[in-house]
Formats: sequence, C-alpha cells, structure tokens
Amino acid sequence: MKDAALILAAGKGTRMQSDTPKALQTLLGEPMLAHVAGALRPVFGENLWAVIGHGADEVEAAFAGHPFLSDLTFVRQTEQLGTGHALMVSLPHIEEAGVDRLVVVNGDMPLISTDMMRHILSEVGDADMGIASITLPEPGAYGRVVRDPHTCRCTAVVEAKDYDERLHGPATGEINIGLYVLRLAAIKPLLSGMTTANKSGEYYITDLVRLAASAGLRVHAVSCGSNPNLLGVNNPEELALSEDLLRERIVRAHLLAGVRIHQPGQLVVGPFVTLEPGAEVSGPGFLLGSTRVARAAQIGPFCHVLDSHIEAHAAIQPFCHLQSAHVGPQCTVGPYARLRPGAELETAAHVGNFVEMKKARLGKGAKANHLTYLGDADVGEGSNIGAGTITCNYDGKNKFQTVIGHHAFIGSNSSLVAPVRIGNNALVGAGSTITADVPDNALALARGRQVVKEKKNNNNKN
Ligand code: UD1
Ligand code: CA
Repeated sequence: MKDAALILAAGKGTRMQSDTPKALQTLLGEPMLAHVAGALRPVFGENLWAVIGHGADEVEAAFAGHPFLSDLTFVRQTEQLGTGHALMVSLPHIEEAGVDRLVVVNGDMPLISTDMMRHILSEVGDADMGIASITLPEPGAYGRVVRDPHTCRCTAVVEAKDYDERLHGPATGEINIGLYVLRLAAIKPLLSGMTTANKSGEYYITDLVRLAASAGLRVHAVSCGSNPNLLGVNNPEELALSEDLLRERIVRAHLLAGVRIHQPGQLVVGPFVTLEPGAEVSGPGFLLGSTRVARAAQIGPFCHVLDSHIEAHAAIQPFCHLQSAHVGPQCTVGPYARLRPGAELETAAHVGNFVEMKKARLGKGAKANHLTYLGDADVGEGSNIGAGTITCNYDGKNKFQTVIGHHAFIGSNSSLVAPVRIGNNALVGAGSTITADVPDNALALARGRQVVKEKKNNNNKN
C-alpha cells in the first residue's frame, strides 16, 4: 500500500494580521510549512505534497533553496474555496503517483511530530477514514467531533459556526485537529457530496467524515488526549505559544541525546539543527537553519548561529554572529566576532574580537585576533593578520580578491587594496597601505617615514 501526505497551506491566514503568507510565518527561524513537512518527511519520504495558493510564488521561492525540503512537491489552489476544495484540486496530481492512502494535514499545525504521525497512522489501521482529536475544556472555534451516543463511533465533524446542540447534542470538548487519513478507493466517490451549504460558504474537508459514516464506511477517530502540540496556529499569540512549546521540546530532545546545554530555558534551537552528543552550548542564544555543531565543540552565550558548521573542539566565545560559516576543528572565534557567508576557518585558526569575515578563508593555524575586516580574501596557513587590518575589497563598483600566502605577517593597521597578493613569509610593516603585490619572503613598507622636528613656538609654559 502506497501512502502519501498532502499539507493544506493555501490559506491567507487573515488572523495573523501579516503580509507574509501564513505558510511562511516562522517559528524558530523556519517557516510553519517547513515544520509540518519536516515532521512528515521521515514517514512519507518523497510522497509529500503541499497545496499552496496565497503568496504561492513567495512560498515556492522560499523552499527552492531549503537545505532539506527543496524537493517538496507543490500544487496550486488559485482560489481558496475551503479545505475540501484544496483536497479536490490536489487529488488529480496525487493520483497520478498511484497513491492508495492519503494523509491530509493542516499546514497550520507546526508542532506535529514524526512520532505522533506514526502513532495516528497505526491507530487508524485499515479503516477507510481516520481523523485525530484532542479534548479541550472549551471547544472554541475548532471543529467538533460528534459521536454516536450508543456506539461511540464518530459520525461527523461539525464546524463551530455550524454547530447546533439540538441537532448535534451538547458539545463534548472533543475537537478535530485537522488531520485526515483517507483510503482513496473508498473516499474518492464521496468527494462530489461535499457542498458549500454551511455558514462559511466553503467546501469543508470535514464533511467527508459525515459522508463516510453515513455511507457505512469504517471511520476511526483517534483520540490524542489533550496534547497541546496538535493545536492549530491561527494568530500571533498562538504562534508565540507554539514556538515556546517547540523550543522546549527540541532543547529537551538534545539534552536527552547527550548534548550539554547551559541555561537551556534560554536557548533557541531550530528543528533542522544537528548537535552531536558531547557538544556544549549555552543560552541565551540562537542556533538556527542547517547549523551543525560537532562533539566537544563549544558555543558560549549570546551567540547567533545560522546555517553554519562548527567542527569538533572548536570554541565560539560569547557574542558572536555566524551565518553560513565553516569553523574547522580546534578553532577559536570571538568574543564579538562576525562570520558572514563564506567565512571558512581551517583547523586551529583564530578569529578574535571585532573581526568580520566574508567569503574569506583563514588557513590552518592562521590568526586574525583583533579589529579586522577580511572580505574576499584567502589567508594561507600560519599567517598572522595584525590588529586593524582591512582588506579593501570594493572600489565602489566591483569586488576584488586579496591573497595572502602562508606564514605571512601583516602589521597592525594595514590596508590591503585588492586585487593584491602578499607572498609566503612576507612581512607588511604596520600602518602600510599596500596597493601592489608583495613577493614571497619580502618586507613591504608603505607609509610615510616618521619625521621628528622641534616644535615651532615651543613656549611650553608648564
Ligand atoms: C480547520 C477544520 C476544523 C479543525 C481546525 C483545526 C475545516 C473546515 N475545519 O479549521 O475542523 O478543528 O482546522 O485546526 O477544515 N486551507 C487551504 N485552502 C483553503 C482553505 C484552507 O489550503 O481553501 C488550509 C489553510 O492554509 C490551513 C488549513 O487549510 O493550513 C486549515 O484551514 P483553516 O482556515 O485554518 O481552518 P480552521 O478554521 O482552522
Ligand atoms: Ca486553522
């Protein structure tokens, strides 16, 4: 039996009060849709679709470069006529792939986990249709699960707006979380029975529950207790609460896996971050995107690390900012360093305070310890970049490369005007402005000679 999943993410998310499509609202630095897709991917592999509509171009563009989800397949729902309609427009695409059982999941349920998905699927077993419910003290605006009072079988899901106690009985607090397991051979013939005859004038996917039950099909409602991880996110407050819950869950999983975390209550770790057991990180701080931290690497407090790779025994001191950087084994970085995209530190390189690197490599054991900008630069093994060195990589129009050989020494407060090459073992005197290549083993001085004269009118009255 071939299983697939479809994530419903075409809605505008009016209650978010934002110009950003709801699917792209972020939690822990990742779009809401990426959380759902990331949780479902291990269960469904490549058989994963998302139906998008509102801001569809933006959504597709955001996923095109996603490190783990760039192969998510998108279907467009150009007019958002309801969750049932979203299913109808997607189904032809999914059927082409020969799917037997389709799991439809609301895209605004970012806290769903892989384990929970597996649990629900196994509970549904071979029923024709499965849904999942939780029980709340108050059902609020959620769709309410209706059961036959005698058999306890689920007979319908009725939206809050359409709920009528006289027809449906007193509400129990059991609500529909927005996840549907559909055996397509049995459910497909029911699709034409969905109508817009309801208070919202939309096609409700939840109508399928009533249609299936009245057709005598086996409908199984899996009750998931009062699990807050299965609540839909519809407004900024729910988004913030979900983000907190997810943060705690992710940090706890890393602790249990053997990561050493100081101030765990103040550490934000994204869902796609890898922390190896034995890594040591400290809150407050942010580890986001596709960041990887190897065993025995350390990250101090107040660091913001995005899409970066920190190798074993490297130490990132407090107050550093890293984005798409690679820090090799045994390197030290910071405090107060900024590594921008393309910063590359080879084994045991050092970057100190107030150093900025962009598209720049520091070779093995090379050092730039103080107040330096290295942009579009390549620094060879063992070289020392003195305090206040600037690679002048930009002439106002174009960017140029600075190449520094191995074991070179750049004196403090030097400007290296690119394109320029400093040779192996070369020495640049402090305060130099270097505009021409310096050969291997040479000494270059490019500064005014010091002149010492007696002061005119030297009438020091002290
Ligand atoms: C839905 C359920 C409700 C359930 C709740 C759980 C329906 C009719 N109701 O209500 O029973 O308790 O979720 O959170 O399904 N979407 C589309 N295309 C559309 C409309 C919506 O893709 O035309 C997507 C939205 O982007 C969203 C999801 O479907 O991710 C659910 O839609 P939403 O409007 O949030 O439904 P709720 O009113 O929350
Ligand atoms: Ca919702």
